[in-house]
Amino acid sequence: MQFTVNPAHVTDATVAVPGDKSVSHRALMLGSIAVGTTNIRGFLAGEDCLSTLAAMRAMGVRIERSGETDVIVHGVGLHGLGEPEGSLDMGNSGTGMRLMAGLLSGQAFATQLIGDASLSSRPMRRIIDPLQQMGAVIDSEDGRPPLRIRGANALQPIDYELPVASAQVKSAILLAGLYANGTTSVSEPAITRDHTERMLTSMGISVARQGERVAVTGGHELSACDIRVPGDLSSAAFVILGTLLSDKAAVLIENVGVNPTRTGVIDILQAMGADISLENPRLLGQEPVADIRVRSSDLRGGPVDPRLVSLAIDEFPVLFVAAAAAGGKTSFTGIAELRVKESDRIASMATGLRAMGIQVDESPDGAVVHGGKFHGATVDSFGDHRIAMSLAVAASVASEPVTVRDVDAVNTSFPGFCELMRTLGMSVMATQDDSN
Ligand code: S3P
Repeated sequence: MQFTVNPAHVTDATVAVPGDKSVSHRALMLGSIAVGTTNIRGFLAGEDCLSTLAAMRAMGVRIERSGETDVIVHGVGLHGLGEPEGSLDMGNSGTGMRLMAGLLSGQAFATQLIGDASLSSRPMRRIIDPLQQMGAVIDSEDGRPPLRIRGANALQPIDYELPVASAQVKSAILLAGLYANGTTSVSEPAITRDHTERMLTSMGISVARQGERVAVTGGHELSACDIRVPGDLSSAAFVILGTLLSDKAAVLIENVGVNPTRTGVIDILQAMGADISLENPRLLGQEPVADIRVRSSDLRGGPVDPRLVSLAIDEFPVLFVAAAAAGGKTSFTGIAELRVKESDRIASMATGLRAMGIQVDESPDGAVVHGGKFHGATVDSFGDHRIAMSLAVAASVASEPVTVRDVDAVNTSFPGFCELMRTLGMSVMATQDDSN
């Protein structure tokens, strides 16, 4: 599929975005190994989470889809998973594969994790090393998927210092830690999203946090609980940016997760002059949520605080669009991790924005984006959902129509993206790729 985007501005609206991807993955995995029934409401029925759902079913967990976003997980307990018949296909999902590797390390059977071409090129040593230290045996293709995992029911606890800030690696170790003889701890070089820790707490597991160190003790059963998934701030970011760049629009996005380990995008945009406010803050279980009010704003460039990188890790593609539309230059540093996401996101965005008339100077761990005006072009998403959606938002304020190629991956995280954008007044149409 491709997007054909015609210039159009956002109109005043109240909308909601689909459920949080990170929380949905974790609800399925933790619900599966809990004792009792976990009712998940607001589940993200995107392809990434559906891969995790299929993998848990393949290990014998009964999971019902009682509505599009309602899921009932009949937990089998810490040691109730069964050996799957074939490989577990995690599709496009780094989160799915890395968290699942942690969980599988604690199982007394062998499994193989596979993924699509993008996932098969992503680095896995970051989880292989700590999980092997805990006693799992993991074979890979030179540090990349497929992963063949021979786990053990009793793992060794470790104290691990993460070399890179990664919630996926932290979570993989904590999940394996549930199966360890003793206390496993992880220290992170920068705070990363803490949905695993919060959900474990909701399920009765005590998670100790001291500064940058977080620890769990193995051998305790999880108690199922009801989980309401907040709207995904990473998806809301596209609505936020579309509104900011439009003329005189005001949009309310209801019920969005605003966990402080995720809100870097709001801080960065506010520092650029964005009019964004959080209303009606409340808790949905252990997760903070709010309604986000956004108004069109004139953005200005500047240096982006590198301390916010791990709190906004998935929003840099759309922040590049903000920078391209802002006055002056915006410099991003400390974002080398973007090069090993679903695509090399620094290169993907630089290529797309340049094609639309924006100057981008790349460096190994960052970029300087020069504010300018977008013109018409045909651009490529490089099969990356966030690149596709970011370029679609930029295209909406371009001077001519833009085609964004290869956008099927949008369904991994944001089913209904085009429809929602059209509700807002944008003109984003999905059609068959011209090249097909
Ligand atoms: C995620 C963590 C992040 C993020 C990904 C989801 C998670 O990856 O990019 O989309 O759910 O834990 P890293 O923690 O590896 O940076």
